[in-house]
Amino acid sequence: MSLWAITRYEDCLTALKDTQRFSSEVYGATIPSFLSDVPMGHAILGKSMVSMDPPAHTKLRSLVSRAFGGPSMSRIEARIRSLSEELATNVARKGEVEFISEFALPLPAFVIGDLLGLDRSLHTHFKRWMDDVISAMSGVHTPETVGGIRESFREMERYMSEVLEARRREPRDDMVSELIRAEVDGKALNDQELLAFCGLLLLAGLETTVHLLGNTMITLSSRPEVFQRVRAQPARIPQLIEEVLRFEPSVHGVFRRAQTDIALSGATIPKGAMVYLMLAAAGRDPHQFPEPDRFDIDREKSGGLTFGYGVHFCLGAALARMEARLGLEALFSKVSGLRTLDATQVEWNHALHVRGPVQLPLAFTRET
Ligand code: HEM
Repeated sequence: MSLWAITRYEDCLTALKDTQRFSSEVYGATIPSFLSDVPMGHAILGKSMVSMDPPAHTKLRSLVSRAFGGPSMSRIEARIRSLSEELATNVARKGEVEFISEFALPLPAFVIGDLLGLDRSLHTHFKRWMDDVISAMSGVHTPETVGGIRESFREMERYMSEVLEARRREPRDDMVSELIRAEVDGKALNDQELLAFCGLLLLAGLETTVHLLGNTMITLSSRPEVFQRVRAQPARIPQLIEEVLRFEPSVHGVFRRAQTDIALSGATIPKGAMVYLMLAAAGRDPHQFPEPDRFDIDREKSGGLTFGYGVHFCLGAALARMEARLGLEALFSKVSGLRTLDATQVEWNHALHVRGPVQLPLAFTRET
């Protein structure tokens, strides 16, 4: 099987819009054989909405998108703000921190845990679950790690099933209860669909946002003038976030499968080929973004395609932007200086489609 890469902005956009010729039913191919008897493996990798095409996708999306509407977001905003304050106070007090474990990970872990109604004591498992899902998807595993990965998928399944059962018995004011209640044309989600969606949220909502925060800080640590500017004018934080999403995005690409021979920009992608839409490359396309390698929070055109486009446009985009904004507002109000402690200690992740630091030692000066 051949793999084709699309790198230009316009071509990525064409492919994202054209769900008939570029199918999303492709992620099932990433299920490794050692997960073939683990239902959660199929649920997350092969059966979640991100691996579906219309019309099946359309129905599911209209069911779950309600849970991401305004009321759910305002419900969680105050809690994100208060956790951001808590984490930022701790970082400012310590001065020198490993930023990922002290800030970038706990914030989205709390949000996902809160959305799914998982107990806070489980947050410590999220990182291992997430790393194991990514290893399974990226084919980064060895005979020694396979057992642990299987166990992570089974644990996720166990905990999520318990939560579903508990919310069916006693609904709460949370997203899982809302998803259980939701109906389109008199039809609700079945258990398999609910499990797939909860698993997808863990995967889609955690790693991506951890890297958004990590990538922002690593970008600012080598640009003190930008850091001081947004610190002095917190209203510019949303522009900073948009430029990080273009310049150093956490999601680098998405996969599709060619449903027919496709002529695109002078090349012909053969029917059946796997296609990698390089969204990060699209963000550096000079035809779309002049001087694309310059980090500039005052750009007229911002953003890029890192949240995708069209029917699969990221359901959590508003939430991720809100988490990053509230987190950075709290942090920048409590610290006045920033530098990378030891560049040799910065460690990047190993995966094809998400990118960010997993180890980021930073030194902050406390605001007096
Ligand atoms: C910086 C943060 C994030 C980035 C860059 C990002 C990126 C993306 C991209 C590129 C897609 C489209 C996939 C495709 O077309 O194949 C997507 C879909 C999705 N994202 Fe995100 N995401 C982020 C955060 C989140 C968060 C916080 C959540 C939820 C808590 C979330 C939930 C989803 C879901 C459910 C989908 C599937 C939508 C569908 O298939 O219709 N994402 N995301």
